[in-house]
Amino acid sequence: MTANELLVQIQNLRVEFDVRAGIVKAVDGVTFDIYRGQTLGVIGESGCGKSITARAILQMVPKPGKITAGQVLYHRRAKGSTQTDVINISKLDPDGQLIREIRGGEIGMIFQEPMSSLTPVYNAGSHINEAVSLHRLMPLRKVGDQMAETIRAHRKVTKEESRQIAIEMLRRVGIPKPEQRVDSYPHQLSGGQRQRVMIAIALSCQPVMLIADEPTTALDVSIEAQILDIMREMQRNENMAIMFITHNLGVIAEMAKEIVVMYMGKQVERASTVDIFYDPKHPYTRALLQSIPKVGRKTGTRLASIEGMVPDPFNLPTGCVFHPRCPSFMPGKCDKIAPTWKQLVGDHWVSCLLYEEV
Ligand SMILES: Nc1ncnc2c1ncn2[C@@H]1O[C@H](COP(=O)(O)OP(=O)(O)O)[C@@H](O)[C@H]1O
Ligand SMILES: [Mg+2]
Repeated sequence: MTANELLVQIQNLRVEFDVRAGIVKAVDGVTFDIYRGQTLGVIGESGCGKSITARAILQMVPKPGKITAGQVLYHRRAKGSTQTDVINISKLDPDGQLIREIRGGEIGMIFQEPMSSLTPVYNAGSHINEAVSLHRLMPLRKVGDQMAETIRAHRKVTKEESRQIAIEMLRRVGIPKPEQRVDSYPHQLSGGQRQRVMIAIALSCQPVMLIADEPTTALDVSIEAQILDIMREMQRNENMAIMFITHNLGVIAEMAKEIVVMYMGKQVERASTVDIFYDPKHPYTRALLQSIPKVGRKTGTRLASIEGMVPDPFNLPTGCVFHPRCPSFMPGKCDKIAPTWKQLVGDHWVSCLLYEEV
């Protein structure tokens, strides 16, 4: 295995929602790379564009959202082959054959359990409905049948084999008596169990990359630990990459090698996990880290709210969008000049006027 093999590149990505009140720049020029076998963490307050970035990777931006600039490049490789084709996912038809193969099969995605979701569930557009079934269980069909169907759509196995894989995956995500549970209907499971079924489905297709969007937020600590273990095991055994979005800084510290910090649709800092935790440069990152209450326990490691309000997306502050909340605000500069994305030492990137000569 070679180090740092590129898998997915997000380049200057922009996603906009044209709604009645105006245009929301949900993702505003985001650039980062994801490597085979590695975990990239994405953090930031609610509404800063993490989920929309993740969805754009799979052409699953909900309507009326649109990718308006930039691209997502996928370095695709057939199993066992060394040859790589570069596919521009952002150019693919969201309903086309190729993206359907990739979505769920090669790049899996798991979301927070919808019932306990903290963010509103938006109306999905036509092509999203299929995608939604990627992460929503249908109520009237047995869990095992839904799992087996997804497995067979993406892997060359028989019906019986797909059922065995489903049972084995249910066991691995900690569902008790999986050979019985496989014949349950979703409503017969608890919310936490349904979420584990979704995780089992995503992992059963052996994706090269897993997009995990706050996947364990609704689960209790011991189940969460179990799920994180499975992800790491798949990463080790199958060189799976993970894009891990979470509010839980303890989890991100444990899982990610590199972290992207987002604010109002922009990435404000990107560095190794060690640098983000021990040498954060952006005042927003520092505020996020300081907002962790000192007492341990799971809830204690979540992002608490930091001072000031998230701005109105239709009325963004001039200059640096963080300036009205920033403890290092420099009047006449930060409210006038937008910072650029620049590299500090090594692979540490930041977008802040403290590090620019202006
Ligand atoms: N369906 C939608 N319609 C209009 N605006 C949306 C929609 N989905 C997301 N947005 C906008 O995009 C922003 C980023 O959303 P999201 O990526 O879900 O944030 P995060 O995952 O970081 O909490 C939101 O603040 C909201 O303004
Ligand atoms: Mg989100």
